[in-house]
Amino acid sequence: MDRHNVIPQHIAIIMDGNGRWAKQRGKDRSEGHFAGMMALKQTVMAAAQKGVKWLTVYAFSTENWGRPQAEVDALMELVCKGVEMNTPDLAAQGVRVQVIGDRSRFSDIVNASLNRIESQTAMGEIMTLVLALNYSSRSELTMAVQQIARRVAAGELQADAISEQTISQSLYTAAMPDPDLIIRTSGEYRLSNFLMWQASYAEFYFTDTLWPDFGEEELGKAIEAYNTRDRRYGLVK
Ligand code: IPE
Ligand code: IPE
Ligand code: MG
Repeated sequence: MDRHNVIPQHIAIIMDGNGRWAKQRGKDRSEGHFAGMMALKQTVMAAAQKGVKWLTVYAFSTENWGRPQAEVDALMELVCKGVEMNTPDLAAQGVRVQVIGDRSRFSDIVNASLNRIESQTAMGEIMTLVLALNYSSRSELTMAVQQIARRVAAGELQADAISEQTISQSLYTAAMPDPDLIIRTSGEYRLSNFLMWQASYAEFYFTDTLWPDFGEEELGKAIEAYNTRDRRYGLVK
């Protein structure tokens, strides 16, 4: 087996298993989410230290609104708390935070927090942390199609001139490289509406570890596994 020793430029993580982690401990699901936020902090710092340039994390899907209201409320509160607790450290470590997803459904308070973390970390040059919030791949692609259709209707763009690049550039991720490695925790093997377009040539890493137990060591294992993969992009070696 060929082994390389490279750090993926862009890692994306489906942070799953907070609820099961809490249940195993007889705790409320919201405590699992809090523990998940602490795991995120560890993982962000470890990724930045290893030289990862982009880290995208799936924090709240468009489908997650369907959870019990108390859990949704706790998650929204956690977004605000997370911003408050972590913005100074992230700024100090050179981590720039950006949010992808539809923000129109968030309260003014949540949006103010998101604007704050983005503006107060905007100078970070070590790594970009992308928070996917009220994100889903299908809604992102639907929005992109609407945007492109409007340009065609306005006569700015010919239908035949729509390219893969036109589509990529109409997504929330327009300014980001595609993920090299997608990690999902908690033993689930699905994408759950995450980065479907962007994941075309990503490598996947699945672990049974529940998200609150993830951190530097687990990230290292995922990168090690990535380094055993042979990325052929449809070509012959
Ligand atoms: C992931 O953990 C966090 C979010 C989806 C917000 P879950 O809350 O999905 O945890 P499980 O899958 O129920 O264990
Ligand atoms: C995916 O996890 C979404 C996030 C991690 C934010 P879910 O727990 O919501 O996904 P399913 O329901 O297992 O597919
Ligand atoms: Mg889950």
